[in-house]
Amino acid sequence: MELNEHTLFAIEIAREAGAELMRRFPQRHAVETKSTPIDLVTEADFASERILVERIRSRFPAHQILTEEGTAQGSLSADWLWVVDPLDGTVNYAHGFPVFSVSVALAHRGDVRSGAVYDPVRDIMFAAERGKGAWRDGKPIRVSKASTLGQAMLATGFPYDVATSPDNNVREFGHIVRKAQAVRRAGAASLDVSWVAAGVLDGYWEANLKPWDWAAGALLVEEAGGRVTDYDGAPWRIGRTRLVATNGLVHEALLGVLGEG
Ligand code: IPD
Ligand code: CA
Ligand code: CA
Repeated sequence: MELNEHTLFAIEIAREAGAELMRRFPQRHAVETKSTPIDLVTEADFASERILVERIRSRFPAHQILTEEGTAQGSLSADWLWVVDPLDGTVNYAHGFPVFSVSVALAHRGDVRSGAVYDPVRDIMFAAERGKGAWRDGKPIRVSKASTLGQAMLATGFPYDVATSPDNNVREFGHIVRKAQAVRRAGAASLDVSWVAAGVLDGYWEANLKPWDWAAGALLVEEAGGRVTDYDGAPWRIGRTRLVATNGLVHEALLGVLGEG
């Protein structure tokens, strides 16, 4: 499969930023807090973001960029927008828990066209291109065939204001953990969603997400034959914050449980 220059570039820079994360991983990190005491950022987030932004600016100077750490704040409706999470799974990273990734997506007027999610610990590269498919290390991937929640391994996440927000996913988690075969909270949304695309996890849900957590992963799931929507079943759009990504077969059942009071 011939990938276009955007997808190849997303893969290249995600790999380079991931290598920088690995180089710094064994060190002691300079950890600061952001929105709440559990919302962390380290020097590695900034180092990775610097690499990604520099590479994009020098290769595609006319494109806009939106990054988690704020170096670039492009518009979601830009003609071409790179959406970048330089380190997804910062809390894991800061604790030395080896589950984190780099997520890079390119959107054209809000439509995600290319995506790469790189797991540098396991050296696994997930990539997708709109209309062409999704791959793990160059091999095509498909979503799973589990057809009931009772057969499904799901994943989710909780927001950084979990301690104070009523919309903190605790109620939904309580319902779903009783119905699914298993539920995991691994701590890096882009990787969880990539594993849905790869047919390992059967579904994922989370509220309060940002575009950089999901843009690449949502394209991966769609291109791997899965379904991505809002909690109300509306098609996924790049600015949406409440998202459900599944193999398609368990989607309605998961939406049903999320909708329970
Ligand atoms: C977080 C992770 C986590 C998810 C949070 C995200 P960060 O991203 O993806 O799994 O539950 O909602 O904010 O802060 O580590 O880049
Ligand atoms: Ca993130
Ligand atoms: Ca991040």
